Amino acid sequence: MARILITSALPYINGIKHLGNLAGSMLPADVYARFQRARGHEVLYICATDEHGTPADLAAAEAGQDVLSYCEEQHRLQHDVGRRYGLSWDWFGRSSSPQNRRLTQHFADLLEDNGFIEERTDRMVYSIDDKRFLPDRYIEGICPVCGFERARGDQCDNCGSLLDPVDLKAPYSKISGSRNLEVRETRHLYLLQTRLQDRIRAWVDAKPEFSSLARSIALKHLDEGLIDRGITRDLAWGVPVLSHGQVRPGFESKVFYVWFDAPIEYIGATEEWADATGADWRRWWREDAGAADVRYVEFMGKDNVAFHTVSFPATLLGSAEPWKSVDVLKAFNWLNWYGGKFSTSEQRGVFMDTALELLPADYWRWYLTANAPEHSDSAFTWEQFQSSANRDLADVLGNFVNRILKFCETRFEGVVPEGGLPGPLEEKLAAEVAARLADLTAQMETIEVRKAAQALRALWVLGNEYLQEAAPWSAIKTDPERAAVVVRTAVNLAALFARTSAPVLPFTAETLAAALGESYPGPWPGLDVAAELAKVPAGRRIRTPPVLFRKVEDADVEAWSARFGGAAS
Ligand code: 2FM
Ligand code: ZN
Repeated sequence: MARILITSALPYINGIKHLGNLAGSMLPADVYARFQRARGHEVLYICATDEHGTPADLAAAEAGQDVLSYCEEQHRLQHDVGRRYGLSWDWFGRSSSPQNRRLTQHFADLLEDNGFIEERTDRMVYSIDDKRFLPDRYIEGICPVCGFERARGDQCDNCGSLLDPVDLKAPYSKISGSRNLEVRETRHLYLLQTRLQDRIRAWVDAKPEFSSLARSIALKHLDEGLIDRGITRDLAWGVPVLSHGQVRPGFESKVFYVWFDAPIEYIGATEEWADATGADWRRWWREDAGAADVRYVEFMGKDNVAFHTVSFPATLLGSAEPWKSVDVLKAFNWLNWYGGKFSTSEQRGVFMDTALELLPADYWRWYLTANAPEHSDSAFTWEQFQSSANRDLADVLGNFVNRILKFCETRFEGVVPEGGLPGPLEEKLAAEVAARLADLTAQMETIEVRKAAQALRALWVLGNEYLQEAAPWSAIKTDPERAAVVVRTAVNLAALFARTSAPVLPFTAETLAAALGESYPGPWPGLDVAAELAKVPAGRRIRTPPVLFRKVEDADVEAWSARFGGAAS
């Protein structure tokens, strides 16, 4: 039995996330966690809300709440919607926790003691009316290159030039619109990544199991050359900048940069979990407490990769303490909304909470797994969603389960029949199940998400093929013993589908397992397929569950396209 630590990118606190966020980190992490638990491994799946930074501060103000109550409420909402998707977090923490505050300050102290932190003076834009320094993307003005009127402080969306906010002409605050701005000097802590560059490269080189996307992003940054990075901000909301327990002089109104403390929260959330449950978090994170044996698998969107292959390793390596670092970094591309982007700020696309108003979680889990933005970006369309729900869930899995259980109910009074000995069709079935199960298991192990979904579907297909060939509805007329064998075999196949589908379709699998009198979640099937297909014994009373998947009708697609936008948007 292995010990597997799994984390998914921490959703930012400002509102319920869209399906793209779910598809590119939380859902694949959950599928993998459920699979590895079923394999019998000790799994710890950790996630949290990422709560600090200017956007949270502004979102709270906009909602008319203080930032503490805003974050508390939003955390609760995200936790709740995650649960409704079946995300089986062992802990869903908060980056604003006392545990994370202490850890963040601890890392900063170590980095400073080890010579990797330096105080520097920056020149930054201050908004007198907003009473705050403005992060680059909160300043707009005229592009000094092309004259575009609404260029952002960091980049002009019209000509693409990378900008320095102090170069914008006629700049104004995006927060208040105020032009009452001035450039002020301010002191900040810099993490000297330039001094850690070679060690970070060696660290990346020693990680053969990073996905190719993760590796290429890491190497791109390293090849371009790292820069020293400001890790504090002029802001009230965040982890206070202490130095060995004392407020750092000159840093009274500053906090650590949100991207400095967010990755630390993976550890912080584990400590929150341990504090709440009495478990030992060190054996997951400290190599001097057993974590060297842990296999750590991270899931994230591509925009997070640089932080986890460069910045956070800089924190860990610079600390010179024996922290566990990631073994497998699985990065995802974007799920787009038709041709464009999902957007939280512009509310474009379907969000996690509204999606559940349309259909139960397993429909979304299936679609987003089978169409994961894994090796390239993928695009959500209602048409593709409809086809995936109907052709995979309703026509294949749902149809098989319904046919065989109904038949068992009407012809065998809902009791699994004994029947005679298995024949050549059952032998052929067992061989095919063995092959497809091996494929599915291998794809799950290597976290090939789309291929795993295809392999799972291929397994389901065997159910309908077997029924078609074995035709128990004909056999029952001439050879009831033979029909009984087929029913017993097919019921067992349905039970095997419950076990193998549970990582992707946990709600359906639970319903199916309950109907068959099986425990849930069952163990992942082993190599002895004949034994796997004999687990539900003759004589057991089973039930036909209500139809597992209703069809998505053209009228649904029309209505949902009108409500959420479709091809035209
Ligand atoms: O990209 C995001 O949504 C960030 N909130 C992720 C932070 S988690 C981590 F990568 F540190
Ligand atoms: Zn421009």
